[in-house]
Amino acid sequence: MAQRFTVAIDGPAAAGKGTLAKLIAAHYGLPHLDTGLLYRAVGRKAADLGLDLDDPDAAGAVARSLTPSALDDGSLRGREAGELASRVAVHPSVRSALETFQRDFAGQPAGAVLDGRDIGTVIAPDAEVKIFVTASPEVRARRRTDELAAKGRAPDYERILAEVRERDLRDAGRATAPLKPAADAHLLDTSEMAIDAAFLAARELIDGFLARR
Ligand code: DC
Repeated sequence: MAQRFTVAIDGPAAAGKGTLAKLIAAHYGLPHLDTGLLYRAVGRKAADLGLDLDDPDAAGAVARSLTPSALDDGSLRGREAGELASRVAVHPSVRSALETFQRDFAGQPAGAVLDGRDIGTVIAPDAEVKIFVTASPEVRARRRTDELAAKGRAPDYERILAEVRERDLRDAGRATAPLKPAADAHLLDTSEMAIDAAFLAARELIDGFLARR
């Protein structure tokens, strides 16, 4: 199929990669997988079962037993689930249990868009287009704070900034599949870019790839 291609989108928490991935998927008619949701579901379930999140065997067993319906839980999008996800995501037992599903998704005949931390490096190293989305920790914390304020909450910017930094350190510092740009990823710093400008930049990259092949 001439138009088949896979887009790998990686980056730290709250850089805007999820929104970007959704827009790209809709624009090019590609299926989209938010891989963070898989880790969030594992973290949530392990916590609900009262398991020790730092125990690789317990967390790995939860990851192996994950069913698609576990992804429908609305509470997975929140900050607490993100924190639980980041903790269980350090375990190779968890990562390997989730790998086949993600690789199959990336390799499907229709092409795909996946967003996460290790898509361009581990899950889909042959993806035709790789984008690493970043923004400064301050900008990411500010966006998160504004999102929560818009929902009527009273968020604490300094606390959110501390959480963003802590999550960056854990995701980038772990031994297995750490957060880092693939050598052939295009860097997209959205610190001073609204989402429509980031989407335009991503489309230019993808359209450039499509025109060249
Ligand atoms: O993208 P997110 O904020 O939903 O991800 C939550 C956590 O899950 C993130 O802090 C680390 C982990 N994660 C991962 O290790 N690998 C991925 N491909 C996606 C998420």
